[in-house]
Amino acid sequence: MRIPTNLVFVIISILIVLAACNSGKKNVQTILREDNLKIYSAEIDNSRDTVLQAPGGSLLTVPAGSFDGGNGTKIRLLIKEALTIPDIIMAGLTTESNGKQLSSGGMIDIEAADGQNLHIIKPIRISVPGSFIDSKMMVFKGVKGDDGQINWTNPVPMASTSQMATLHQGEQLFKQKCASCHGIQSPVTGPSLAFISRLRPENWLFNYTRNNAAIMKSGDPYANCLFEQYNKTPMPAFPELSVSDLNRLYAYIDNESKKSGLPIPDDHIKKCVDSCLAYQTLKDSLTTVRNRLIDANGSGISYSKKLPGGYVSADTTGPSKRSPQVYPAVYYQFQVTSFGWYNIDRFLQEMDGVKNSRMVVRVEGQYRGQVSVFLIVPQAKVFEQGGPLENKVDEWGFFGEQGELPLLQSVTASLIVVGEQQGQLVFDLTSFTTRVDQTLTLQPIPVAKEAMNERISRLRLDSFNMDMKESKNAKAIKSIDDKLESTKPKTCDCHCGFRRPPVESDSLALAGDK
Ligand code: HEC
Repeated sequence: MRIPTNLVFVIISILIVLAACNSGKKNVQTILREDNLKIYSAEIDNSRDTVLQAPGGSLLTVPAGSFDGGNGTKIRLLIKEALTIPDIIMAGLTTESNGKQLSSGGMIDIEAADGQNLHIIKPIRISVPGSFIDSKMMVFKGVKGDDGQINWTNPVPMASTSQMATLHQGEQLFKQKCASCHGIQSPVTGPSLAFISRLRPENWLFNYTRNNAAIMKSGDPYANCLFEQYNKTPMPAFPELSVSDLNRLYAYIDNESKKSGLPIPDDHIKKCVDSCLAYQTLKDSLTTVRNRLIDANGSGISYSKKLPGGYVSADTTGPSKRSPQVYPAVYYQFQVTSFGWYNIDRFLQEMDGVKNSRMVVRVEGQYRGQVSVFLIVPQAKVFEQGGPLENKVDEWGFFGEQGELPLLQSVTASLIVVGEQQGQLVFDLTSFTTRVDQTLTLQPIPVAKEAMNERISRLRLDSFNMDMKESKNAKAIKSIDDKLESTKPKTCDCHCGFRRPPVESDSLALAGDK
């Protein structure tokens, strides 16, 4: 929207300070006590219409023959502007009209220079740079009393301007179509619209007003987020509004906002969406790099290559065995050294005390994701990595799909769960006596590497070790993660429930960070 700049000048209560009006022909002289105000000097030709602009932005339209007196047609004027409250105070000007306080929209002093003997015989139109238009404002004349005080007299309603007409039409539109749901100062069903035309690009604002549903459907993250924030209350479409209607409507809203002295709103939702989008863009670009670094790290678990006397393998080859899930190493890599240990197949060999059993391992707690589970049966030197049970969540087994396995009975065994989450080692260990049917629960929690090693060493496993070292690219990944963390929006929730557009590119949709 925005009124074109050349129209920004609006007439508001202009206090024209003229001393001459009550005492016949007198100098147009200053009354401002006002060394503080800048003086602007201008020469005009009294035989022609002149438009002058003072440095503060006031616009003076001086019709030909406005001044009486002077030598010839050339007239020099000294102009002072007091357009802001500080200016007015600095200049020591009162704003009283016959004892009543006035709220001033600005004051202008016009004075004849060089002792010319002038007086104004035609109205000079003065516009001051408008902060806002208030149709109730009047133009006053300042008359200096005997005590030297100015009294502002002869209030005249300001002449109606085209801008006032625009605002009036805007007001009608607003009241007819918007006011049932929108306030300017405070929200109703929809958000308050104070200064909205300064907060949104014009074409967005116009398109949104005409058909907000189409904007949402295009995947516009902000529009969709706003919709969520307003409990998915639909706003009607107004396709009938022309560009000039919209200009008027938003000119009215803007002017009302200024008139009410409202602050520019915080615009939290918009800022939130923007920061989420910026974060998402950064994340998208860094994630590719991060993934490449993680890929180059290899698997989160590595096994000793030399396996004399038996074998332990991450890829369990038997058809019915649960294959372990392979997680990439992000910051850390677990290293398993197990010389002379066997995998679970050892139990299939004729061994005394082995029975077909059922053992289910449940992994619980907030750190249960992305972990590896191991079974250790020291007496048989068996070490095996488990895999998720079929159709089960967070349940692990070592052989059959439902947890059945050949197991040496009534011996001490241990279960270990390890993993890495957000750069932290998570770990749990439990020891138990083997039975035919058992369900065991593990709850990994963040621990220090030393604590993990200590607990494993207490098992006194011969030539078995599980250690953790930094992954190859840990430092580079860490610096990416730090960067992302510091960019992550802190005070807003990126989950606005944006509906992804059906076909449009994904880049518009804002996926929240889990
Ligand atoms: C029936 C109620 C209703 C009416 C009538 C209505 N709106 Fe809305 N408007 C809303 C709601 C609710 C929202 C918040 C988004 C949503 O839930 O769809 C909104 C949002 C907006 C926004 C976005 C504000 C922001 O902070 O970004 C603008 C601009 C807007 N409306 C302008 C208008 C204008 C102009 C009119 C009149 C021509 C109008 N609305 C009429 C309910 C309404």
